[in-house]
Amino acid sequence: MMVKPLNVFEYEKQASEHLEQATWDFYQGGSDDEVTLRRNRLAFESIRLRPRVLTNVSTIDMRTTVLGCSVQMPLLVAPTAFHCLAHSDGECATARAVDSAGSLMTVATFATRSLETVAEVCDTNRLWLQLYVYRDLAITEELVRRAEAAGYRAIVLTVDAPRLGRRERDIRNAFTLPATMSIANFAAPAYSGNYIPEPTIVTWQTLEWLRTVTTLPIVLKGILTGEDAQLAVEHGVDGIIVSNHGGRQLDGTIASIEALPEVVEAVDGRCEVYCDGGIRRGTDVLKALALGARAVFVGRPVLWGLTVDGEEGARHVLHLLREELELAMSLAGCSTLQAIHSSVVTSES
Ligand code: FNR
Repeated sequence: MMVKPLNVFEYEKQASEHLEQATWDFYQGGSDDEVTLRRNRLAFESIRLRPRVLTNVSTIDMRTTVLGCSVQMPLLVAPTAFHCLAHSDGECATARAVDSAGSLMTVATFATRSLETVAEVCDTNRLWLQLYVYRDLAITEELVRRAEAAGYRAIVLTVDAPRLGRRERDIRNAFTLPATMSIANFAAPAYSGNYIPEPTIVTWQTLEWLRTVTTLPIVLKGILTGEDAQLAVEHGVDGIIVSNHGGRQLDGTIASIEALPEVVEAVDGRCEVYCDGGIRRGTDVLKALALGARAVFVGRPVLWGLTVDGEEGARHVLHLLREELELAMSLAGCSTLQAIHSSVVTSES
């Protein structure tokens, strides 16, 4: 490692110097003109905080629960594919970092370590599985069964990817997973070679089917409107991640932090609401919590930490964000998560 990074942006810079261009582009890139990717950051920057003073902030308590799982902070890890591109220990390094930080990891279907292998290295109360649905529903059901057997605590169904967004950086680079790595969940003997099943279009009916398959809580990831949040609640989901997939799917959408208030309003307390996309500072976490998120997820920052210093780097990224959140809560006059009311933010000009 070069100089130890002081913040997430310094991890980003160092990671850019470590990775080869095609991998860097895969991690960083968004779809089309990357307007949504940029907007996720700009939207956070345009929200301003309204700090309260002279409250007792001598201790800050940021412990909470997400779908019954205890976490030490409301900052969790989003599903991202292919961690072995960042570090040879891949998702296992990330899971160890998450475990020691008292956070929670959503393991991607497209992980480069199998969901069972990841479950062996950490407390499985800290693991959710991200699911893509395959045309062969038996394959999908099998993944859910494996997650249940391994002790995963929730299924996160990605709903914003009926097709892959057009990521022109990856097209230009003809990006593929190196032959030395595999999508480990499908590399088990039951599947042949480097097999990836054909995805299918997920509809509300698919969600009804998934509900009959498992008793695990179901979280929908990729909702951006109050209308869909309302439908999600009617279909009995347990949680919603307000997300635009880190700007990698439909370009030109609202930032997820901009969509958060209408989702929170439509849900009206009937399921848990989380948010991801562009969270790079403790103050961003504070803003999302003030706008009604129960917790937030980070994607790329963990990949940057993993790239720069493996498990230790991922842990340090989570640590930095935690420390920043603690400081932000103190300076805003909030000693607990309950104290973070909507009055903490304003986006009025
Ligand atoms: C992702 N994301 C993602 N989401 C998902 O549901 N399944 C997946 O396999 C992946 N893979 C993936 C790979 C990479 C390299 C990135 C950057 C992102 C999206 C991810 O879960 C999350 O929504 C965003 O990354 C959050 O935005 P930030 O924190 O990266 O800005």
